[in-house]
Amino acid sequence: MCGIVGYIGNTDSKEILLRGLEKLEYRGYDSAGIAVLNENGVHVFKEKGRIANLRESVDLSVEAPIGIGHTRWATHGKPSKVNSHPHQSTTSRFTLVHNGVIENYEQIKKQQLAGVTFVSDTDTEVIVQLVEKYVNDGKEVEAAFRQTLSDLKGSYAIALLDNENNDTIYVGKNKSPLLVGLGEGFNVVASDAMAMLSQTDQYVELMDKEVVILTKDSYTIMTLDGETVERAPYTAELDASDIEKGTYPHFMLKEIDEQPFVMRNIINKYQNEDGKLKLDDDIRQAMTAADRVYIIACGTSYHAGLVGKQLLENIAKIPVEVHIASEFVYNMPLLSEKPLFIFISQSGETADSRAVLVEVKRLGHKALTITNVPGSTLSREANYTLNLYAGPEIAVASTKAYTAQIAVLAILAVDSAHAKGIELDFNPMQELAIVANAMETLCSQKEQMENIAREYLSVARNCFFIGRSADFYVCLEGALKLKEISYIQAEGFAGGELKHGTIALIEEGTPVIALATQEHVNLSIRGNVKEVAARGAYTCVISMDGMQDEEDRIVLPAVHAYLTPLVSVLPLQLISYYAALHRDCDVDKPRNLAKSVTVE
Ligand code: F6R
Repeated sequence: MCGIVGYIGNTDSKEILLRGLEKLEYRGYDSAGIAVLNENGVHVFKEKGRIANLRESVDLSVEAPIGIGHTRWATHGKPSKVNSHPHQSTTSRFTLVHNGVIENYEQIKKQQLAGVTFVSDTDTEVIVQLVEKYVNDGKEVEAAFRQTLSDLKGSYAIALLDNENNDTIYVGKNKSPLLVGLGEGFNVVASDAMAMLSQTDQYVELMDKEVVILTKDSYTIMTLDGETVERAPYTAELDASDIEKGTYPHFMLKEIDEQPFVMRNIINKYQNEDGKLKLDDDIRQAMTAADRVYIIACGTSYHAGLVGKQLLENIAKIPVEVHIASEFVYNMPLLSEKPLFIFISQSGETADSRAVLVEVKRLGHKALTITNVPGSTLSREANYTLNLYAGPEIAVASTKAYTAQIAVLAILAVDSAHAKGIELDFNPMQELAIVANAMETLCSQKEQMENIAREYLSVARNCFFIGRSADFYVCLEGALKLKEISYIQAEGFAGGELKHGTIALIEEGTPVIALATQEHVNLSIRGNVKEVAARGAYTCVISMDGMQDEEDRIVLPAVHAYLTPLVSVLPLQLISYYAALHRDCDVDKPRNLAKSVTVE
């Protein structure tokens, strides 16, 4: 949540900051602001709403080669201009942007900043005021900055400008992501390398509780105690074109369409030239040593974890529990003797999941992260990582990361089965190749999905998704997709559970979308469809080739029974997309959401 950027160099910084913020808008879009510094001092521009609003308010005549910027997802204080970042100290000497949550800000206000007048409702303002206080008390700016960060409890990625020194940006990080980017005659700061990829592909990772004194020609990393840390840059292997929409109207549609390529990419990355699976021995050993796997995730990644449980249990015969991260951390179940934790996270930055990771590491357990962002916090802090290789996912609603997560979990399950000597007549790479073709077929049938969206969801107030077995898990994901981007109240249910209460909500015309891709429960789910239809529901059945009835609206190309979620989710993603489009919703940036949820 929230994204920050900074630039210090020789050219005007405004456009660089604004473009960087546009790339970070997925991290929040309640308000945005920039502060630029030149020989006349600091100039702050901020606006409620999107970067587009901020652009209009920026005075183009102000030229400044140093600046910081912020796009906000509101936590403390409603979205408004006054709560927007950058925030300034009382004398306006210091100006700061912050991503994260300061847990002890009330305490700092009372104990250290009594008498200071605060203009916003944010937790952030205490940081900039505290720096000024320490400077007023006689500290040098750098020492005041380090002292301030030492006083903070919580998460932060911070960039600070000093009006009296226009060749430095002070940078600090704890728990929230932040990178320093290096260029010729300039340096940058960003929450995500994508934001500054047009400037440089050379980045330096920062660890928690480190600060950086950044000038246009140098970066000095230090601990909060002032000890210097040496760290070399790495090359960010991102393709700038991956983060552009190209000819697509929305990132979500582009990312849905990319799924066949993602499947093929995963096949390439996880297969040796001799056709054998390519996974680290360490991971294999950790999987075979575990007596139980605990999958921890949130939202869509949690839904992928549910499918992963079925794969790991059926293929590798490893018992698995799947937990919502925000619940697990406060309500931990009794753990087995030799647990292995698997964190599934597209962003690798989700604070709820990280809180669990910190706790399980404290308990001495091993953790594997499955993520789309190599080098992300969850990847760095776990013992092992499996990458998704799905390419940047920009739309807030996750699509290609979900299918990539399931594909990687299937490969992990097969690899673990091989390691345990379990005989399988399932070749994941061959089957994923069939899935990729099936996905391509479905992507070419968009008109059909659009018609269903128009017919069933143009004016609907609610919608139910029903399925059994793996279809149930996909229904949970289909419902989440629909509600988050179209704002239609949607619920996913196990077909057999509906009659235990929820069927009371079915009335004349209620849309019910049913998945019927599981042979062993095909008759039962069709019975459930009849039950709701008899009560007036407007039903739409999506089945799989070989299991279809005449009235089914979509018949999916047949794929291996283990992998049906990879294709059955695709029409649900497309139906949600078109439903949101027809209801004039902002598909890529739904209200109240952010792509990367870095607050608990
Ligand atoms: C929904 C969606 C979210 C995320 C959730 C976890 O489309 O994207 O539910 O899945 O916030 O995020 P990650 O996977 O980044 O940990």
